[in-house]
Amino acid sequence: MTRDLFDGLGAAASAAQPGVDALAAGAVVLRGFAIPSVARLLADLEHVTAAAPFRHMVTPGGFRMSVAMTNCGALGWVSDGTGYRYDAVDPQSGANWPALPASLMQLAQDAAARAGFDGFLPDACLVNRYQPGARLSLHQDRNERDMTAPIVSVSLGLPALFLFGGLRRADTRSRVPLGHGDVVVWGGPARLRYHGVLALKDCEHPLLGRQRINLTLRKAG
Ligand code: SIN
Ligand code: FE2
Repeated sequence: MTRDLFDGLGAAASAAQPGVDALAAGAVVLRGFAIPSVARLLADLEHVTAAAPFRHMVTPGGFRMSVAMTNCGALGWVSDGTGYRYDAVDPQSGANWPALPASLMQLAQDAAARAGFDGFLPDACLVNRYQPGARLSLHQDRNERDMTAPIVSVSLGLPALFLFGGLRRADTRSRVPLGHGDVVVWGGPARLRYHGVLALKDCEHPLLGRQRINLTLRKAG
């Protein structure tokens, strides 16, 4: 249904709107879309990270990730020596992940709808903290069960270069600058595109200091 809707409107229709950059069919950047929600988001995130602090997860290959992560929502993304998975429980505390704040749910639904994906109901939000030098290597988001739902990704704090590739790892990728308040939505034909983030440059953001926070909302279960 969302797919049909999107195919009907198309990325080109979205891209014709001011502040909307088309990356590919099914993928857009909504420039500054989160700005009106930032104060609420940051206040809500304080509660999330107090209950489930940032930590550096380990890849199945045994490497410590440079990006620090935590989660909120019914499910959280976890990586350890046994692999990647979604889990209702934070392995560090043994408790459920903190609930998805209403501010975040609303923003994700509004952004998805703006990109042509109505009815997005995320149940997981991965919270990524990049400090200078942190990077995220090229990957696909494919641990989610429902591939008809898009990914909604909110950037806060320092700017970063987002790599957006194709459906194969070796495909050429564009470097997309993402700044404070930008929201990327990818779904439909773009859902399994490879993506990553180049090493964060050291700088000072007036609100967030020397870091970039990324919130990635998914329908995981
Ligand atoms: C991710 O792929 O989970 C994060 C993307 C980003 O930090 O922009
Ligand atoms: Fe990702």
